[in-house]
Amino acid sequence: MSNAAPQENAQQTVTLTDNATGKQYEFPVLDGSTGPRVIDIRKLYGETGMFTYDPGFTSTAACESGLTFIDGDQGVLLHRGYSIKELAEKSSFLEVCYLLLNGELPNKQEYDDFHHMITIHTMVHEQMQFFFRGFRRDSHPMAVMVGTIGALSAFYHDSLNIDDEKQREIAAFRLIAKVPTIAAMVYKYSIGQPFMYPRNDLGYAENFLYMTFAVPSEPYKISPVMARAMDRILILHADHEQNASTSTVRLAGSSRANPFACIASGIASLWGPAHGGANEAVLKMLGEIGDKSRIPEFVARAKDKNDPFRLMGFGHRVYKNYDPRAQIMRDTCYEVLGELGIQDPLLDVAMELEKIALSDPYFIEKKLYPNVDFYSGIILKAMGFPTSMFTVLFAVARTVGWIAQWKEMIEEPTQKIGRPRQLYTGPVARDYVPVDKR
Ligand code: CMC
Repeated sequence: MSNAAPQENAQQTVTLTDNATGKQYEFPVLDGSTGPRVIDIRKLYGETGMFTYDPGFTSTAACESGLTFIDGDQGVLLHRGYSIKELAEKSSFLEVCYLLLNGELPNKQEYDDFHHMITIHTMVHEQMQFFFRGFRRDSHPMAVMVGTIGALSAFYHDSLNIDDEKQREIAAFRLIAKVPTIAAMVYKYSIGQPFMYPRNDLGYAENFLYMTFAVPSEPYKISPVMARAMDRILILHADHEQNASTSTVRLAGSSRANPFACIASGIASLWGPAHGGANEAVLKMLGEIGDKSRIPEFVARAKDKNDPFRLMGFGHRVYKNYDPRAQIMRDTCYEVLGELGIQDPLLDVAMELEKIALSDPYFIEKKLYPNVDFYSGIILKAMGFPTSMFTVLFAVARTVGWIAQWKEMIEEPTQKIGRPRQLYTGPVARDYVPVDKR
């Protein structure tokens, strides 16, 4: 499916007045298919000699995209037009991968072919396991992910030519197929268990659970509840338009770097606690709070301007309403804990924290709602994942979003290297002073 081209609306322009010179400049306004209108400032520098200043890109559309739409005020998230709620309830992760990559839901034959293509790429080059052995076993799993996913470019030379459509496609299949295998290897390496080869008779989520939790010495029974929950977690994290890691992938890719290197850069960006690292940080925070009686103390800290502490799992750059993914995650959390018969006191702390924060004027005024990471950690913990693996799981799911966004960018006819400008505030030109004169 090709994206609808942005429409320049002749009736709509924005006039900029330079009060210093009295000059006026007119800029076109573009309409997307939905969402805020966009001022087209591509000619701004050429015409005015000025840049725009927007640290953190709070008001800047850095690209055109047809994959994912978010209405942060309404709490809406759509992939290719389909609501995340419907996808989480009715679809499967691999179907969502197909949708993100191709623009339409697959018919039966298309799905079977896609499933086959992903399945036949699940193994990694045998040499990769020796590469793992260079890492300390107590390394953070995300550190090993950044290294090993980047290393895929050293193993798959026949899918590095980004000008070849077929190679781009194979790179996408390889990444979606191999990232779970590598993520499971990262876990196995950290606990000193043998790597488990992928099993192509299993579904995507089931196979990931198998590679992570099975051991060669005994049979492993995959719980359908766990497999369904894992598939849903993957769907909920699959793409989220131009977030920090996706923008990192696009920027790295804009220099025409190979896709494996670009995805490694996305993983590095995801790791931070303000982004994908938040799921790990939430669980640590809930553990620190420990008991409902201590919630007011932590809420007070989060509100204190002099304390850098923030309530992890709360707030979002785009959502000024409930993150729709958080609601589904919350329901899944109850389902999984109920089915597994687990009573986790951290869930009680989380529920009470959510209640208190949502009724506190500070959080209400700033429109700080729970985000996707707030409940995911509790589910992952119940499934048996250690906290340090949480962000790795996010990376497994987001790989499809990154690679679909990367492909979309590379396939644009006018793709340009990303190169922001700056507001320079450093010293102006001056002469070098020899060391004995300083
Ligand atoms: N706890 C307390 N105060 C907060 C929080 C929070 N979690 N989040 C934002 N605020 C306050 C912040 O102090 C600021 O106050 P003021 O206007 O008085 O200076 C105001 O709300 C706006 O915050 P901001 O940092 O300017 O907003 P942002 O859009 O730059 O940041 C965010 C968004 C997600 C980084 C931030 O809300 C945050 O740090 N949240 C905690 C980390 C987290 O849960 N991250 C996961 C995000 S969702 C998944 C993902 O993207 O990977």
